[in-house]
Amino acid sequence: MEIQEAIAARRSVRKFTDRPVGEETVNAVLAAAILAPSGKNRQPWRFVVVAGDEKRTQMIRAMREGITDTKARGMETGSAIMTARVMQHAPVTIFVFNPEGVHPWTSHSVGQTFLEMVDTQSIGAAIQNMLLVAQDLGLGTLWICDVWSAYQQLSAWLGESGQLVAAVALGYPAENPDARPRRPLSEVVRWF
Ligand SMILES: Cc1cc2nc3c(=O)[nH]c(=O)nc-3n(C[C@H](O)[C@H](O)[C@H](O)COP(=O)(O)O)c2cc1C
Repeated sequence: MEIQEAIAARRSVRKFTDRPVGEETVNAVLAAAILAPSGKNRQPWRFVVVAGDEKRTQMIRAMREGITDTKARGMETGSAIMTARVMQHAPVTIFVFNPEGVHPWTSHSVGQTFLEMVDTQSIGAAIQNMLLVAQDLGLGTLWICDVWSAYQQLSAWLGESGQLVAAVALGYPAENPDARPRRPLSEVVRWF
């Protein structure tokens, strides 16, 4: 598949078939992630793969507990419950951490903020590589930040102390969503 074709055809997929995703396929997606450019080649990423019924059940439990806790503390959880339902049926979820990132609720110096902006862009590039290679392999993906509604619970369950940046749900698609609207170039670009 040509790269432009993959970019144009990719959709956020929220329904997956039960067909398992083999380890080799997951590794092909991860191999694309680590080819992404990163600021000063810092490669500020760590990927944790969750697969299999037992682990998925534990993951959803941690996610739901986190959402309940976040709500109880008066914070918005938005679409997190809906996203948890997607994760429940995705054969694979890949969590992406920045090992040296500072937790969101600790104060950041200006230097740390800039460093994190660089790292987060690098991680975004890695995730987009994953999505496009997955598309090429016939897989569907969902890029997920709703995991932040269960930030501490998921990090603790996964045994990761870095900054939880995102997760990617992965599986063979059971839906073919229409393209979501995009603001036209004329609205978002200014030639100066
Ligand atoms: C950084 C980021 C975070 C996202 N988080 C979520 C999420 O937590 N739950 C969800 O259902 N979709 C999530 N999405 C998917 C977006 O809703 C989706 O990309 C957007 O609506 C455009 O649709 P498309 O991906 O099909 O083009 C996220 C996308 C990005 C890039």
